[in-house]
Formats: sequence, C-alpha cells, structure tokens
Amino acid sequence: MMSKAQKIEKAPLQWSELPFGYVKTDFNVRYYYENGAWSRGDLVADESITMHMAAPCLHYGQEAFEGLKVFETHDGRIVAFRLDENQKRLQKSCERIFTPIVPPDMFRDAVHRVVRANAKFVPPFGTGASLYVRPLILGMGARIGLGPADEYLFLVMATPVGPYYKGGFKAVKAMVVEEFDRAAPLGVGDCKVGGNYAAGLRGEIYGKKKGYPIVLYLDPKEKRYLDEFSTSNFIGIKGNTYVTPHSESILPSVTNKSLSQLAADMGMTVERRPIDVAELPEFDEVGAVGTAAVITPVNLIHYRDRDYTYGSGDDAGPVITKLYNHLSKIRTGEIEDKFNWLDEVEV
Ligand code: COI
Repeated sequence: MMSKAQKIEKAPLQWSELPFGYVKTDFNVRYYYENGAWSRGDLVADESITMHMAAPCLHYGQEAFEGLKVFETHDGRIVAFRLDENQKRLQKSCERIFTPIVPPDMFRDAVHRVVRANAKFVPPFGTGASLYVRPLILGMGARIGLGPADEYLFLVMATPVGPYYKGGFKAVKAMVVEEFDRAAPLGVGDCKVGGNYAAGLRGEIYGKKKGYPIVLYLDPKEKRYLDEFSTSNFIGIKGNTYVTPHSESILPSVTNKSLSQLAADMGMTVERRPIDVAELPEFDEVGAVGTAAVITPVNLIHYRDRDYTYGSGDDAGPVITKLYNHLSKIRTGEIEDKFNWLDEVEV
C-alpha cells in the first residue's frame, strides 16, 4: 500500500541533479516575538522579509540559524534527522547572542509545518537529495545603540538540495589557512551565528583562488591545533580510531556527534581531543562532516609546503565509506533507527 507521502505529486525537479542551491518552495513559516511572547506562527508564501532599516540583525549581526535535513524513507515516510539536536544548538546560540529562545515544541512545530506545506519538495527516496530546512532568528525593530533587540522574527524555510561539494561522495582537496581566523578564542565560534560564516569568507575565497574547495582553520590562539573546516567539522581516521578536535571555537556538529556514536557502535575508539597540526601525516582517512557536507572525503591537505594524502584517490577510504553508508541508510529507514534519531512528519 502507498503511504500518504508517496501519494503526493512531487515537484517537477531533476532530483538526482540538484546542487546545494536555493530552489523556490511554496511556503515558509514565521513567528514574531513582541512584548515578551512569541506569536502562534503563520505560513506565508512571500520569500522577502520586511524589517526596519535599524534592525540589530542588520547592524550588529544579532542573528543565529540552523540547518537540518528531511528525507523520504524507503517505505514512504517523511522524516527529519535529529531535529531535537538542532533545537538545542539553536537555544545555545540564542542564549549567547541574547535573543529569546525558541522552545523545543515551537521549533518542532515550525519544522513540521514547513515540511508538511512543502511536502512535494521532499526529494523521492533513492535520489540522494534531501529537503534542507533552515531555521533562523533575527533581531528586529529599530535600535541603533548596541543592545539586544526588543522584537524578533523566527523563520523556517526549506529548499531541496543535492550534495554540497561537486560530485557527491567524491573527495575534495583542502588547505590549512594560517593567515586568517574564522573565530576568536572566547568568541562565538561554537555557535551557529552568521557572523562566523562572514568571517570565514576571507579564508574560503583565499583557498578557492588557490584551487582548494575547502579550507581548514587552526585554533585561533596558538595556531597549533586543528579547529574545523570552513563549512564543517574535521574527522580523521587512524586505524580503528575516529579522531575529531576538541576545541572551544568550533561548531558542535550534529553530524559529527552522530558519526562518533556510529563509530563507537561499530567498535571503533572515538577520541575528541586537541589534534596537533603535526599529526596530519598520521591519518589514513580524513572527512569534512556537517549537515550540508554529510561526510565529504578529503583526499589531500596542503599545509605550508607539504601535501598530505588520504583515502583512495578520488574515492573515500573504507572507514569513511562505511560510516557514510550507515548514516545514509539510517536516514532513509533502510537500517534500524536504534538511537531514535528520526522524527516522522505527518503529511
Ligand atoms: C550546514 O551544514 O547545515 C551549514 O549550515 C553549513 C553551510 C556552510 C552550508
């Protein structure tokens, strides 16, 4: 029997060819915060936002966002991956930049509403694509002195996406950028705020000009330990060990957290610790992991005048391949969701 989701006529898109780009969908959902309370939220078709020109999100970057993915499973259900983790992370970002928090029920309700309203844009099972959901919170209203806004907008939009890096599960080359930092030691590097990504553009463009699609930052204090890639976390595989940096200035990636758990479950040793840049030659495989990047294999890291290579040419090594396949199959319901990571959206 067909599920409700399978009966929905899909949008006419080339699902398997989708890049990681913006595709217009039908609705987004908006909640306004005024006089200390959130509104009940409205689904709107408008892709633009009207705000005061003196809004703190525009001047002082009082903005935080999230990214999560929604999939169609092999048996036609629509599921959001680890939505609760994204809510927790947004809550931390909100606390750090002094916005009101988005409570768990409201976050879940917003994501479900936007997915349900855009169900025809959830890519069919087997296409490798997903519906990328972007919640964001913006400090609104007029305030020209430095201080938190009095009014806020929480908006959730959705757009169907394919792989972040060209070629899908194909390796990319990275370089270590020492010239610039993306975050300050006691700043907001561990929060998902737009300013970190603006600060990261300098290194990203510098790397791209030199032919590296992704750059790797070192810790901003000592420039000695690996921090994270411009778009995602670093993981290194050494034999049967999964190593990922411990640092106060990196984003706690939900994908990295999930992969660490899968690795441990597969009998690997998981180490979250400072990783000296001098350790780069010791890894067998390296991956860039995040919601958008999933696990992008990294086959070369350029550091100073050396190139370190990983995996098998353009392809990922065996451990990263195994982790990628396992994660993908959990998200599409082909492997039991034993950690309870999937949240079904009724359509
Ligand atoms: C994500 O992985 O969800 C992000 O927000 C990273 C961004 C560079 C696309």
